[in-house]
Amino acid sequence: MKLFIKKPIKQLMAATAEGEKTLKRTLGVGSLIALGIGAIIGAGIFVRTAAAAGEHAGPAVTFSFLIAASGCALAGLCYSEFASMIPIAGSAYTYSYATMGEFIAWIIGWDLVLEYALGAATVSIGWSQYFNTFLDTFFHTHIPYSLSHSFFETSNTTAGMYAAELGTQGIINLPAIFIILMLTLLLIRGMAESAVVNNVIVIVKVAIVLMIIGLGWHYINPANHTPYLIPANAGSVKVSTGVVDYADTFNHGWLGVLRGASVVFFAFIGFDAVSTAAQEAKNPQRDMPKGILISLAFCTLLYVLFSHVLTGLVPFKQFLIQGKEASVTYAIKSAMPGYNWLANFVTVAILAGFSSVILVMLMGQTRVFYTMSTDGLIPPIFSKLHPKFRTPYKSQWLFFVFVSIFAGFIPDRIVGDMVSIGTLFAFVLVCLGIFILRKTDPELVRPFRTPWYMIVCPLGAAICLCMIASEGWENWARLIVWLLIGFVIYFNYSIKRSHVRKGVVEVGVDPPNPHMP
Ligand code: ALA
Repeated sequence: MKLFIKKPIKQLMAATAEGEKTLKRTLGVGSLIALGIGAIIGAGIFVRTAAAAGEHAGPAVTFSFLIAASGCALAGLCYSEFASMIPIAGSAYTYSYATMGEFIAWIIGWDLVLEYALGAATVSIGWSQYFNTFLDTFFHTHIPYSLSHSFFETSNTTAGMYAAELGTQGIINLPAIFIILMLTLLLIRGMAESAVVNNVIVIVKVAIVLMIIGLGWHYINPANHTPYLIPANAGSVKVSTGVVDYADTFNHGWLGVLRGASVVFFAFIGFDAVSTAAQEAKNPQRDMPKGILISLAFCTLLYVLFSHVLTGLVPFKQFLIQGKEASVTYAIKSAMPGYNWLANFVTVAILAGFSSVILVMLMGQTRVFYTMSTDGLIPPIFSKLHPKFRTPYKSQWLFFVFVSIFAGFIPDRIVGDMVSIGTLFAFVLVCLGIFILRKTDPELVRPFRTPWYMIVCPLGAAICLCMIASEGWENWARLIVWLLIGFVIYFNYSIKRSHVRKGVVEVGVDPPNPHMP
């Protein structure tokens, strides 16, 4: 049994060539960078920064961002080499099938569900909290705590809109399911989300971040930045899911910063989404690495400045006690007098911004499964296209149910951690994959070459592994269980139906409408 059978590159290209009829190469480097930023800036910066600072790193969350960014940058270089080698729509799954073989491709494709599907779930939970803030701000009402939180959370705040619901336990997160439903319907309809719309959302998102940095800088209270790292004797805080004890190993000092890095790593997820647009890029070999690396560098700079300002506005513990998922508006309202309009603007813009991230994640997920399905590794239902809209509508519905279960019933932190660990694992495989390929296939044409690969690849893998290590045994267990489920499916289903194994050539596979949102 050849576990590492490869999909011939010619076969990949043949499918692409046929697809040229419908896929237009419209994206220049500017649009690719915008696509990257559109998928990157979301709940990570606006929700998880405060969570990481409040629980693990304090003001030193800026260092957490730098650690996470360095892991992403090194993995990003490896991604760029992959993307330039095989310039077709796809993802790490497609690249690895052609270069590292079916089994590794399966692991990555299966693992990407954690990144994309659960990524959509995490951002929708953040969306839900900002939606309630929006209702509260503009209409002085909100969805009750029990219907906007999971069963594992209990209201613990005596201030803000949930004050009257102290002690209430969550049941289901309905707004999160609502936004997933809306975007699923949009994706099925296949209404065009042009690069222009994406660019507008990106401009709004970047503008908010810049405004908070620029205007908030004057309101930084140095006392909130002292000490910069959380000391071990910082006490504890009661949160909706239990108690955060700062004496715990990963809740103070440099190990807290490392744990914070694995939390805010979420904020960088999405830069690999640029690679899924390779087929629509005008000059993928040249522009793809630029799109990935420039969007990453730009976001890193914004994130470090943003987190420095945010932790300077209010004491970090307040993010857990009062701010919660809507900590950014909380911080502006409490520390920047006269800037309520900014907090309100942030709320509305974040709702739009989060929606585009969820949309890209849901689309990325169905695309990866679409390809896996046309390869015979998962059932054909995942590549069944709508007769009129030419979108993978059945897959979209199945993922609506799957994503909603997580969004509706699991707290944000748990789902978000699963996303991070799953993506980190994919990055480790990509870094190691590039290293191995340099040794095994030195002749492959590589328009973009990872510089100093002997250092970059192992270092990228090592940084990502360190972040995985700091995620704690519960997250390792979740990842292992997920991979084991994947192995069971692979050895009982996929291996028997793999088209590459059976010699079925996929020439002319009609891809889903690439211009759907
Ligand atoms: N990076 C994306 C976000 O932060 C997933 O929402």
